[in-house]
Amino acid sequence: MIKLDNTICLVTGAGSGIGRAIAVQLAEAGGMVVAADRDIDNARDTAAASTGRIVARYVDVTEHAAVSELRDGVLKDLGVPKVLVNSAGWDRIEPFMDNTREFWEEVVAINYLGPVEVCRSFLEPMISLGEGGKVVNIASDAGRVGSTGETVYAGAKGGVVAFTKSLAREVARFKINVNCVCPGPTDTPLFKAQPDKIKEALTRAIPFRRIAKPEEVAGAAVFFASDMASFVTGQVLSVSGGLTMVG
Ligand SMILES: NC(=O)c1ccc[n+]([C@@H]2O[C@H](COP(=O)([O-])OP(=O)(O)OC[C@H]3O[C@@H](n4cnc5c(N)ncnc54)[C@H](O)[C@@H]3O)[C@@H](O)[C@H]2O)c1
Repeated sequence: MIKLDNTICLVTGAGSGIGRAIAVQLAEAGGMVVAADRDIDNARDTAAASTGRIVARYVDVTEHAAVSELRDGVLKDLGVPKVLVNSAGWDRIEPFMDNTREFWEEVVAINYLGPVEVCRSFLEPMISLGEGGKVVNIASDAGRVGSTGETVYAGAKGGVVAFTKSLAREVARFKINVNCVCPGPTDTPLFKAQPDKIKEALTRAIPFRRIAKPEEVAGAAVFFASDMASFVTGQVLSVSGGLTMVG
């Protein structure tokens, strides 16, 4: 049984899908969860959907000022988060040759620089407190094995995987674990927004012949956020129903 007794946990992208499921499961395990999202109404719905302790906060992870404001507010009202989960993400499937530069910039800003900004901002108080902590980045199997129509996104998520490993090496001396979950196709609004042909082809390719539920991805993130993963760092876990089996 995973216990997070009163641990303050920050989850970005907690207004929907995988981030929402992670926030709910962290709260069920006893955590005090900050559900942060640029869609504050959805973040409030996440808090309302849980019987655990979840507070909703606004953040746009692409904006330095918004992340700093979130950090300052959380430190003042709740204390130092010892669990950081970066789940905010976004993509649109289209051929690389149709992508615009604006699209590349948005994909990289949300999916790569977002986790970088949140880690830079929140690791400072976590390191100062000196009690260790856990960082969990939600990347994607696109970043491990590639994905047609998601080329720049795959590059950004591959960046998250490499960032996870390097950061894990740097902050191990502070007893901070940094790990990464790579979801495969998962039943969330992000996946539903993709073209039907692609959704059907992906589902057929999965050995379990179905896509993941957000709760199944959340389980891996909660493991990494807990003391059960105390000696696990710099690792990448695919939750893909066997679609990918990376050695
Ligand atoms: N659903 C899948 O099939 C799948 C597969 C692989 C990886 N992922 C990854 O899992 C994570 C969660 O995705 P999901 O499927 O739950 O998507 P989702 O669209 O259901 O949820 C994403 C949440 O992130 C928020 N968000 C987006 N940009 C933001 C920003 N700049 N600042 C703050 N919040 C922002 C959105 O408002 C939304 O609430 C993402 O990082 C995504 O790339 C999802």
